[in-house]
Amino acid sequence: MMERINNMNDMQLLSRNIRNKGKTIGFVPTMGFLHQGHLSLISKAKAENDTCIVSVFVNPTQFGPHEDFSAYPRDLERDAGLAENAGADVIFCPTGAEIYPEDYRTFVEVTELSAILCGQNRPAHFRGVTTIVAILFNIVMPDRAYFGQKDAQQAFIISRMVTDLKMNIEMKIVPTVREADGLAMSSRNSYLSSDQRKAATVLFRSLVHGRDLYRAGQTDPLILRQEMIRMIKAEQLAVIDYVELVDPDTFAAVGPQSTCYLALMAVRIGKTRLIDNLLFTPET
Ligand code: PAJ
Repeated sequence: MMERINNMNDMQLLSRNIRNKGKTIGFVPTMGFLHQGHLSLISKAKAENDTCIVSVFVNPTQFGPHEDFSAYPRDLERDAGLAENAGADVIFCPTGAEIYPEDYRTFVEVTELSAILCGQNRPAHFRGVTTIVAILFNIVMPDRAYFGQKDAQQAFIISRMVTDLKMNIEMKIVPTVREADGLAMSSRNSYLSSDQRKAATVLFRSLVHGRDLYRAGQTDPLILRQEMIRMIKAEQLAVIDYVELVDPDTFAAVGPQSTCYLALMAVRIGKTRLIDNLLFTPET
């Protein structure tokens, strides 16, 4: 039976007991409303560790003042069933009051990397993410932590934090899980109307278009970017937030010596902001 824990002292005590027995902990932090993307992280964490711990916490500090914190979908009962079926041993659901008491004052910030791409229009977002992940790491004390490639910049920034702060945690990045038509699974897809849902496929379509051109020999990043932008603009319901190509190892702008690109984008469909990314590598 999966155990449910709501209190951070209980969680810390359980984790300490697991580790004292010499057993490993795989940790999957989430904001809930679980889908197949989350479940693939949970299965992998269970397969690679003795114990799999999943957290569900809609973290207020990573939402901007006009973003969807209150509207963010929540269904803890459903999440608990799905997490258990995927192999979770513990679901940890702390309260906002316990994580961020009134006298809370500490933030963890990965400079520069948190100001580009998704950080440009969401200035405090990654600071909120790194802060909550650092807090959760201190409570759960995992051996390995699992993150999705879907949120490539987030995974990159958290890896930087783990390295810089000398956290003794192995980062595992898991491939993006997609719907049959290519749309990357996301809790926010539940906001889309049926017309918007159709339009939302433009993110993956344009990424595949870019990768096809790249594989056909077009390696000029300016042209690849323009081609993806052109395809997204042809979709009436889509508004581009950004489309960029970066070096996957550094997230720096690609230069003439680059051989491999990571294409990333954020696109608004109505009020819903969706992100996706794809690695452009020569076909193997
Ligand atoms: P959330 O959006 O719930 O995502 C939790 C984890 O699931 C993240 O690592 C994310 O990259 C991964 N994920 C989401 N959709 C995925 C997909 N389609 N395929 C594979 N993995 C996917 O990301 C967050 O929550 C929060 O920022 C968090 C890290 C929990 C901090 O609050």
